[in-house]
Amino acid sequence: MRVAIVVVLVGCTSSPGSMTKEQLGKLAFEDPGLSTPAGQACADCHAAKAAFRDPESDFSTSRGVIPTRFGSRNAPTALYARYIPPRTSDAAGSHGGLFWDGRANSLEEQALGPLLNPLEMNNPDRAAILANLRAASYAPAFRAVFGGAALDDPDTAVAHLTEAIAAYERSDELAPFTSKYDAYMAGTEALTDSEQRGLGLFEAHCASCHPPPLFTDFSYANLGIPKYANNRFLQQPPDLNPAGTAFVDHGLADGKFRTPTLRNVVRTGPFGHNGYFENVPYMLEFLNTRDVGTWAPPEVATGIDRSVGNLGLTSADVDDLYAFLTTLSDR
Ligand code: HEC
Ligand code: HEC
Repeated sequence: MRVAIVVVLVGCTSSPGSMTKEQLGKLAFEDPGLSTPAGQACADCHAAKAAFRDPESDFSTSRGVIPTRFGSRNAPTALYARYIPPRTSDAAGSHGGLFWDGRANSLEEQALGPLLNPLEMNNPDRAAILANLRAASYAPAFRAVFGGAALDDPDTAVAHLTEAIAAYERSDELAPFTSKYDAYMAGTEALTDSEQRGLGLFEAHCASCHPPPLFTDFSYANLGIPKYANNRFLQQPPDLNPAGTAFVDHGLADGKFRTPTLRNVVRTGPFGHNGYFENVPYMLEFLNTRDVGTWAPPEVATGIDRSVGNLGLTSADVDDLYAFLTTLSDR
């Protein structure tokens, strides 16, 4: 009986020939067999049910497939990542690039990072990824989509794997535009008074870096976020974190990180590149009072952006701003 069920499932999930690159990419994105040892999929840190970020939000940063290992940064959402342009720099500063520091120029290039990262999916090399791929239930479909030789050598196989994952990440499933804000813009739904006031405050204080429709301009800034003492990366052994507790995350340079999208933001906690802020109101309070309140010192003190930090918002304003941000959640 059990055998029969397995055969039926394999028959419909990987019937070679009928699958698109995007469907194949979704299977790979959700496949915990692609890590070494098996056990961690992209989807574990970018879960569809949690707005494509890490549902283990009780940790500031994500746990790897080796359960004692933690990375140094908070997992961003993979939603709307298809719009992140390659990184460019000019007199006005840097712009674009994937990861908090923009070090990957495409979704394809980005996808290789976690596969080979010892703090994440921990494959030692491309040959290990290929071995995992060959064992996958969708290996026949992989050959059907990319050709009979697609799983013959590590470089080709991994290039096709990242191509398929990126095709899935570019699909409309990861860019739904189904939020209340979108309905408001389409004229089919009204904002509440509080949300409307929040939109006004947002336009005044936030939209310069987080403009609609994506709520980011992909620029970089150092917001002066404090070092997070409980970041579990700080306790990693010297081979994984040579600087130990003295580790400082400089981002792209001088503490600058790429402005993230605020779509779905209230669902993607914790907040900031190191997960310093447990919830959005706490981060809003930081943006409001960083320069006049009693906050821990910035992790990197150079070139801190002063367009936030002393906004003079009342607590009612902060509530309204928060109410507006909730309208950015897809439904
Ligand atoms: C252990 C958790 C973990 C796993 C597994 C993981 N990621 Fe991530 N992901 C992260 C973290 C943390 C970052 C940010 C890292 C950085 O900026 O240095 C990130 C960044 C990203 C980004 C960039 C988003 C942006 O705004 O720049 C994308 C896209 C992404 N991951 C997709 C994937 C894909 C595809 C896989 C599987 C091949 C994957 N992730 C596996 C934690 C994870
Ligand atoms: C100078 C540009 C700039 C302005 C102005 C700005 N932000 Fe940001 N925002 C950023 C950058 C850059 C980050 C990432 C910083 C980091 O993690 O080090 C960020 C991060 C955030 C985050 C965390 C998102 C996440 O997924 O972790 C929230 C929430 C946020 N901003 C809301 C706002 C709000 C609300 C305002 C207006 C009160 C605002 N920002 C004004 C540039 C800006």
